[in-house]
Amino acid sequence: MISNKVVTVGVIGLGGMSNFYLRNISKIDSIQVGAICDINQDLLSKIGEQEGVSQEKRFNNMEEIIASPDVDAIISVVPNNLHAKVLELCILHQKPIMSEKPFTMDLEEAENLNLLYEKNPIPCMIGFIHRYTPAFQYAKKLLDENTIGQIRHIDVRYQQSFGAPLFNFPYLWRFNKAVTGTGALGDLGAHMIDSARFFAGEFHSVSALMKTFVEKRIDPLTGEERQVEVDDFTSFQAVLGKGVAGNFVTTRNAIGSSNQHEVTLYGDYGTLHVNIERPNEIDIFVKSESEEKPVLKTEKVPEIYNKTLLSDFAQLILNNKTLDIPTFYDGYKNQKVIDRIIYSAENGRFVKVD
Ligand SMILES: NC(=O)c1ccc[n+]([C@@H]2O[C@H](COP(=O)([O-])OP(=O)(O)OC[C@H]3O[C@@H](n4cnc5c(N)ncnc54)[C@H](O)[C@@H]3O)[C@@H](O)[C@H]2O)c1
Repeated sequence: MISNKVVTVGVIGLGGMSNFYLRNISKIDSIQVGAICDINQDLLSKIGEQEGVSQEKRFNNMEEIIASPDVDAIISVVPNNLHAKVLELCILHQKPIMSEKPFTMDLEEAENLNLLYEKNPIPCMIGFIHRYTPAFQYAKKLLDENTIGQIRHIDVRYQQSFGAPLFNFPYLWRFNKAVTGTGALGDLGAHMIDSARFFAGEFHSVSALMKTFVEKRIDPLTGEERQVEVDDFTSFQAVLGKGVAGNFVTTRNAIGSSNQHEVTLYGDYGTLHVNIERPNEIDIFVKSESEEKPVLKTEKVPEIYNKTLLSDFAQLILNNKTLDIPTFYDGYKNQKVIDRIIYSAENGRFVKVD
């Protein structure tokens, strides 16, 4: 079905994050948009015109686009409460998928999906885009080469500011527990968990604190105040990998932080620091043979580390070899850690992650 080694995708959910996918698809020769789907008719028409998608390939119903023989794969960018549904339909119709994070709403959904997936696996990636930041890819290579020796501790933060009272950010689905599952934790924390697993290995235990700072927000549809049901801030400590101690903070209330996801890895012989806001630079603190003590150097990341989530997705569908991609399994394990963080915060104690 795949012609000329070009993968034709159907995009479900045409809101904010779909722009990232549509913009990047237009830059990659091996992938193209063949169909789109949204329940918002205005958006469907607007994106349909913009992408040159004909009327009969614009869908309101997600199962129809997933089942359509005109698309080789799905990119799903819907709100969190629909991720499991889309993944389930893709497994049912054996259609490869790139699904956005967080993986599911809760562990129960994740466990049910995992049972289905194990019986009928499909090529699947989860939208953990930050591990594709060139500096993150390069850091991983340096760790594999033992540049800083054994990692002893890791400091991870993901801070944004839009939720701070100063900005009067309105109520939307991201504050509604029934649609989003969690707040900063699933939105930003899922990326922190993925980065930590990427660099240091599996989580073994966590101890967490979750806070909501802004209890009520104005719903732009009604002008009325609505209760915020999810976290604005989550921090946790963890033990992961080969006994690595981890310290994690995510918040939507950090004025001065725009989209600051940074990781510092402390090893026996040095330190590495990466930040998605400086995607092409890495801070390396190591001692070379000619130096008496470790010296901080900021290096430009070599261009070979510029691979992308979407180019890997196309290669996966075309049956080519892909390395270190964020898989279904990464989504599932990520959700397990999220579940344990919530349990720990609710129960006020360190808990195991199996
Ligand atoms: N990987 C990242 O860095 C990143 C960044 C932003 C958002 N996201 C994720 O992307 C997802 C979407 O976020 P967003 O900011 O684009 O949200 P959004 O609200 O802007 O867009 C969601 C779109 O889905 C559509 N939709 C809702 N129900 C639908 C249905 N049944 N069928 C088809 N379409 C439907 C909505 O009409 C809307 O256009 C979320 O899960 C979010 O966590 C990931």
